[in-house]
Amino acid sequence: AQTVYHEPYRPQVHFSPKAHWTNDPNGLVYYKGIYHLFFQYYPEATVWGPMHWGHATSKDLIHWQEKPIALYPDSLGYIFSGSAVVDYHNTTGFGTKKNPPLVAMFTHHDPKGEKEGRNDFQNQSLAYSLDNGETWKKYSGNPVLKNPGIKDFRDPKVMWYEPQKKWVLTLATLDHITFYSSPDMKNWTKESEFGKQLGAHGGVWECPDLFPLKLEGKTHWVLIVNLNPGGPNGGSATQYFMGQFNGKAFVPDDQQTRWMDYGPDEYAGVTWSNTGNRRIFIGWMSNWLYANQVPTERWRNAMTIPRELLLKRVNGEVLLASTPVKELEGIEGATKTIGFAASVPKQFLLDVDFKQFGSFSLQLSNSTGEKVVLGYDAKSARYYLDRSASGVTSFNKDFLRTSYAPALVKKGGNHLQILVDVSSLEAFVDGNVTVISGIFFPKQPYNRLRMVPVKNTVINKMTIKPLFSIWK
Ligand code: FRU
Repeated sequence: AQTVYHEPYRPQVHFSPKAHWTNDPNGLVYYKGIYHLFFQYYPEATVWGPMHWGHATSKDLIHWQEKPIALYPDSLGYIFSGSAVVDYHNTTGFGTKKNPPLVAMFTHHDPKGEKEGRNDFQNQSLAYSLDNGETWKKYSGNPVLKNPGIKDFRDPKVMWYEPQKKWVLTLATLDHITFYSSPDMKNWTKESEFGKQLGAHGGVWECPDLFPLKLEGKTHWVLIVNLNPGGPNGGSATQYFMGQFNGKAFVPDDQQTRWMDYGPDEYAGVTWSNTGNRRIFIGWMSNWLYANQVPTERWRNAMTIPRELLLKRVNGEVLLASTPVKELEGIEGATKTIGFAASVPKQFLLDVDFKQFGSFSLQLSNSTGEKVVLGYDAKSARYYLDRSASGVTSFNKDFLRTSYAPALVKKGGNHLQILVDVSSLEAFVDGNVTVISGIFFPKQPYNRLRMVPVKNTVINKMTIKPLFSIWK
């Protein structure tokens, strides 16, 4: 494992499988002190193929251990994305109340049906574990929710709705969300639809999530909907809606489309179940525009850093704020104050405190002149990420595009935190209500940082913390 995890471009503080292809995070569930991360996985190549659920576990959301593959394709099809829950009341009957089953709900994607031109090739199925998530068995009665004839009918996210003591399923159905409910996860009743007239529709709706969060004593519901293509900077991206949920229907607060991450490389992001009052999000750190072509050899693609979600009031609106989980502290080295030009390690956390906020350009570079630039342009009130000269870029022309994010906070709250990990950057700006994630492939690792404040911008302090690799 030593050399495997230290090859070129390999993230040192993010999860990536030892070998081969990954896309979406799946089956996120916390149980008995262990965070489970399943992932869309093709164990025979570094491109997308017949999907399996790979599996990794962690005690702290930072150090991951890869486990044997949890779910293999079968006669009903490939194992597409989905979620997992603890069935504490044993409503499924798969376990006992004393040993509640972990239950995964996923999409069975039948490639034969697709080839034959049928419309019902994606159906929802169950699998369960009676040994705390170590091994999984598929339910003999699969599928449990049959396709009514909608081509894109997938990515089930299940949750227990305590006020009505029932399961609620949030399902992506082509260009909208369909909510279902069930007493036992085996029999589902359609409750409502959401979103045909709302949100971004430049592509297919995928990988949804629904959860409550509190702000100032009031509960707000967040509905996450991933979209491919049609993201704000092209390709795949994660939008969200704020609203209310009554066990049957989601009622949005307004007509706004908001984005979890304006960077090109966060997709299929969803949250862990069974984490109590914490809400923890992780996404796939790539984009369908070029995910199959990025220049890594042994493996392809990684996950974002796990992010804790909180609500924040900004200019009267309630928005989602994302922050790297506090467990990251476990791998942080000593804090060092730096000047406007500094040498940097391969993975680190940078904090920039502004005395007066305004335009700036922050460059990460190597001695061959390759660089990635994260900046802010006060005139257009936009952040940007420019990786056109970042290194290897020729694999796809869409990779060259600069990404933009509007400033949501007009004044104040202008702290900037950036997590850099060999071949990725995640910027948390505007009091963390905006995130910009991007990957890059320099021919030599970046080792220089340069901050250029423009015009009236005054910087108070810049600090850096090296991060220790999670791979021994
Ligand atoms: C999103 C997605 C899901 C699907 C999975 C297949 O990236 O297209 O909708 O379940 O990937 O791998």
